[in-house]
Amino acid sequence: MSIDFYWRLPTHGCHNSIQTSGYERGDWSPLRPGNIAPGRDRDGEVDGFTYIDHLAAIAQAAEAVGFQGGLIPSFPNTDDPWVISSLLARETKSFRFMIAFQPGFGNPVHTARMAASLQRATGGRLLFNIITGGGGPAQLWWGDSFAHDDRYGRTSEFLDIFKGVWNASDFSYDGAFYQLRSGGLAPALRGEEFPEIWFSGSSDAALQTAARHADYYLSWLEPFDQLGEKFARVKERTAALGGEQKCAVRVDLVARATEEEAWADIEKGFSNVSEEARQRWGGQGSDSVGAARQAALRPADARRYDDLIVAPNLWGGFSLLRGGPALGIVGSYEQCAARLDDLIARGTDAFILAGTPHLEEAYRVGEEVLPLLGRQASALPVAAE
Ligand SMILES: Cc1cc2nc3c(=O)[nH]c(=O)nc-3n(C[C@H](O)[C@H](O)[C@H](O)COP(=O)(O)O)c2cc1C
Repeated sequence: MSIDFYWRLPTHGCHNSIQTSGYERGDWSPLRPGNIAPGRDRDGEVDGFTYIDHLAAIAQAAEAVGFQGGLIPSFPNTDDPWVISSLLARETKSFRFMIAFQPGFGNPVHTARMAASLQRATGGRLLFNIITGGGGPAQLWWGDSFAHDDRYGRTSEFLDIFKGVWNASDFSYDGAFYQLRSGGLAPALRGEEFPEIWFSGSSDAALQTAARHADYYLSWLEPFDQLGEKFARVKERTAALGGEQKCAVRVDLVARATEEEAWADIEKGFSNVSEEARQRWGGQGSDSVGAARQAALRPADARRYDDLIVAPNLWGGFSLLRGGPALGIVGSYEQCAARLDDLIARGTDAFILAGTPHLEEAYRVGEEVLPLLGRQASALPVAAE
């Protein structure tokens, strides 16, 4: 079975090193000499190079080294993934756009029409990471006050309609959240390939909705056996409904020629995190079960970088260095490949990988790590939990 590899497009700026914080790429922080996208020319004027140009460079790099496409996250502080995909479509050839999308924020028929237009224009390069939201202040920021499980009920109905109208001219639906009469896409928009549905969320409601609608169930990295159990549960639930579920992991890597170099980068990065940021680290203002599972991996007090080593090559402090999920993989090229092999052995069918800076690391991981997959697993110890 072939394994799919995607890269991550950093939609709210990017550091130029894992060792530093602050956004040196993108206009999310004040422009300083050395910033790019946008940068300043010799006269101090903005040079016209936008952050979208930088994302295009990352997508082209990922495409060149064989990634199938990229995940385009969506948060209150990001550019919009639909707009990014449309802009990057003409800058790339085969790169697929995995739009992170919260169904509750759009009308299902309108969304189907946007998706069909994008499929038509890109030759079928669209797919989704369906997100249902983490509640709390970030959810209200979007104007969404639905409770956790109601949000999943709405997602499920949304996807029923999204599928229902795709090739139809006369589709009707009576649900708790949506009523539709004689919906369907215009003839010119019908017949496009239905976009793959990747689905993230760790609650019971999420797993149930994924079993019904998802092609791929997507998770952040967790300790390997814990993740393997979660994947087995999702696969069983889908099988009980007569379907087959594939599973995917989204994970950051620090891959270097030697393990020592990789940990040296982590140690330097950790030493640059302020005491105040370390103290703030534990908080969680959401109802997200997935985020709670990540939070449970944090020790009460981490004074040294190695207090956060969860298992060989697994480090639990990534969210301190650049936000997002806590756990990621650190090691030599061979070790990183072996850990990915470990995950494949535990039911992973696809990966969304990331590294900072995303442009240079796309080349490094694509050229140095991915070619080693499938070769090293038996020669190295399996990560113990
Ligand atoms: C790999 C992955 C990527 C995610 N990307 C986003 C995102 O871009 N935007 C967002 O608001 N939530 C994102 N989420 C959050 C989840 O989709 C989900 O809304 C959250 O975990 C709450 O659901 P839960 O309580 O079922 O875990 C992501 C989750 C995972 C695992």
